[in-house]
Amino acid sequence: MTSVLLLNGPNLGILGEREPEIYGHDTLEDIAGFVADEVAGAGWKVVSVQDDCEGELVRAIHAHRSSTVGAIVNPGALMMAGWSLRDALAAYPAPWIEVHLSNVWAREQFRHESVIAPLASGVVVGLGAFGYRLAARALLHLSG
Ligand code: DQA
Repeated sequence: MTSVLLLNGPNLGILGEREPEIYGHDTLEDIAGFVADEVAGAGWKVVSVQDDCEGELVRAIHAHRSSTVGAIVNPGALMMAGWSLRDALAAYPAPWIEVHLSNVWAREQFRHESVIAPLASGVVVGLGAFGYRLAARALLHLSG
């Protein structure tokens, strides 16, 4: 079975309740469904992992590195200093897209730098849950 890894970092497990004026009303389950809708036509499945701990995200990348054809990664605040997440993604052999629900460039200065972005195939920022759909389409395109 061909699968795509949907990886979400700290504080993203409470989407829907978390500052909805910034992050919207969709839950992570809704978002996993949106991604599944996008890739279903290609026969791909979604492996969705959310964790608040960086080490668990690293483990998930290792566990799925050879069984997934691409990844969608919202690192949450680990974008700013998630160096072990960065190194795990550097060893991930397939394309992956970084997604942020909010437009991090329009927010506080500390959100303006991502340590993982230089390694991503692309970055989608500020389009809410729709950004995950776009990332899924990008992976289909890149695998194409
Ligand atoms: C976020 C943006 C980050 O700055 C923040 O720490 C998050 C969510 C986003 O999706 O907009 O947790 O990654």
